[in-house]
Amino acid sequence: MKPNTNPPKTYRVKSFGCQMNVYDGERMAELLAEKGISEAPEGEDADLVVLNTCHIREKAAEKIYSDIGRLTKGKTQKKAPMIAVAGCVAQAEGEEIMKRAPAVSMVVGPQAYHRLPDMLDRAVKGERATDTDMPAIAKFDSLPQRKRRSPTAFLTVQEGCDKFCTYCVVPYTRGAEISRPFNDLIAEAHKLVEAGAREITLLGQNVNAWGGEDTKGNKVGLAGLIHALARIDGLERIRYTTSHPNDMDDALIAAHGEVDKLMPYLHLPVQSGNDRVLKAMNRSHTAESYLRLLERFREVRPDIALSGDFIVGFPGETEAEFEDTLKIVDEVRYSQAFSFKYSPRPGTPAATMENQIAKDVMDERLQRLQARLNRDQHAFNEALVGKTCDVLVERKGKLAGQWLGKSPWLTSVWFEDNGQIGDMVTVEIVEGGPNSLMGKLKQPAIA
Ligand code: SAH
Ligand code: SF4
Ligand code: F3S
Repeated sequence: MKPNTNPPKTYRVKSFGCQMNVYDGERMAELLAEKGISEAPEGEDADLVVLNTCHIREKAAEKIYSDIGRLTKGKTQKKAPMIAVAGCVAQAEGEEIMKRAPAVSMVVGPQAYHRLPDMLDRAVKGERATDTDMPAIAKFDSLPQRKRRSPTAFLTVQEGCDKFCTYCVVPYTRGAEISRPFNDLIAEAHKLVEAGAREITLLGQNVNAWGGEDTKGNKVGLAGLIHALARIDGLERIRYTTSHPNDMDDALIAAHGEVDKLMPYLHLPVQSGNDRVLKAMNRSHTAESYLRLLERFREVRPDIALSGDFIVGFPGETEAEFEDTLKIVDEVRYSQAFSFKYSPRPGTPAATMENQIAKDVMDERLQRLQARLNRDQHAFNEALVGKTCDVLVERKGKLAGQWLGKSPWLTSVWFEDNGQIGDMVTVEIVEGGPNSLMGKLKQPAIA
């Protein structure tokens, strides 16, 4: 199957990965819009499809070939579109994709997508192109201004990872840690707020490793950036994700007690509750040091909601070691969490370690872990019943008059109103379910 070379009038970007992958997807959409290509309306075929892929686990990575197959066989849409593969699979397997999928015109890595418009010009001429360079800063310098209209927005402040956890592909697909300059970030945040954002989530693979110089030339860390962003009128909520336990500093912990706009929520992956496993993962923190860190957050912000990531079945993990993970869950009581079965990734040290764990053992451990995490999430939600909080309205529900928004603790809240997207309303929580809360409107938005 030959690539489609018709100049595209419409595009669709499909993002499959983490929030930074979603952010990249938005920026690619903005680039295509600058070129005069418009987003294909929902349910309609697109002339150009960008598959913005994720390489973190095997399932996610393999999905792209079935997606390409569905697009070219007319299962996803009537006519085969021009196809671009972007994201972390593009970075890791660029050449292989070009060989395996002749219908693909462009393969572009996460640090090179600012060159997508040029690649598109070549694709129309029938040239297939791969670009997986990593000129980190250049990308941000050559992207168009933000235009996205939404009450919540992502802002990538830091990229890449130098931690090299032994199971993880990110240091290879995203490259070394870099921080975007302070002034660029403040400028982008202003643009987002002008376009309607009331909440900004600062993103980075290790967001709390961000560092830069403020307008006066003083060295600042993420806390300094948060303090500066909090001074932007119209911006009401600030969040950040994902942090690494080893990059946490006193100023960031303190900021949770000082900055009202900084929401009471922390996503801090631990991966395992066992020190031998943590060491084999190259996490360079212990279960105890992780718990002590969370304690400090709770001291400055007692109502802080805690979230984490877990991997079960890391090579060599024994039943007793897995039970340490259950123990840490019991201690922390997460408000929500993400848990995964270990997936061996090509090129990472753990993939060739001895004692790979059998799939059925992993399945069983994941079930037990998720039962506890679900228990705690439900309990967290139930404990909010009777409390009153602000909710930022993100979308309409299925029923008439029903709306969905987020509480300060990042829990979804359903309630009835006749307001609109982007309202900040006051809601009393009346019911706490396993995954969301029901609220009653106390005070509609003040226009
Ligand atoms: N930078 C973040 C998140 C990276 S990826 C951090 O360090 O915490 C998001 C999550 O995917 C990780 O926290 C980990 O729980 C999971 N993950 C990464 N590699 C994995 C693998 N090979 N198998 C299963 N889960 C993995
Ligand atoms: Fe991956 Fe570890 Fe880096 Fe997170 S800190 S991105 S898990 S290598
Ligand atoms: Fe996936 Fe790349 Fe994000 S591998 S999790 S899209 S950094």
